[in-house]
Amino acid sequence: MKKIKTTLFILAIGMLGSCTKAIIDPDEETPDTNSDTVTYAKDVEQIMFNNCVTCHGGAAPSAGADLTNYANVKSYTQDGQLLQRINNEAAPMPPSGLMNSTNRQIIQSWADGGYKQ
Ligand code: HEC
Repeated sequence: MKKIKTTLFILAIGMLGSCTKAIIDPDEETPDTNSDTVTYAKDVEQIMFNNCVTCHGGAAPSAGADLTNYANVKSYTQDGQLLQRINNEAAPMPPSGLMNSTNRQIIQSWADGGYKQ
């Protein structure tokens, strides 16, 4: 009897596994918005590189704001400008329109968590 239960259990887990695989792309990580675990290297840097550094990088960054490294992104976030602009519908950054709420929450959580590197 115990053996049958175990077999059924394993079968159920196996089915769960295949369902999950069918729905969630294994390459796509769940975004981390927890202020205890969000870090620059793991979460924030990629948002900057995907949405900001085409303008805020290179030899002549827009508004003199180079957002390609930890120290600068931290400094612009700490003084409030970066959070203000990524949440400002009237003058959004990026200028093409606000990022999705998950990206904006990740940056807020990073600030709340004390700017983990
Ligand atoms: C298409 C180019 C472009 C992109 C992409 C872009 N910015 Fe900007 N950004 C600008 C320009 C131009 C200015 C200066 C004019 C202004 O303040 O609107 C600016 C200004 C800023 C300022 C104010 C800096 C200051 O000293 O006044 C901040 C902060 C900022 N951007 C953050 C960001 C962040 C964060 C992202 C990505 C989420 C981003 N920007 C994406 C072009 C861009």
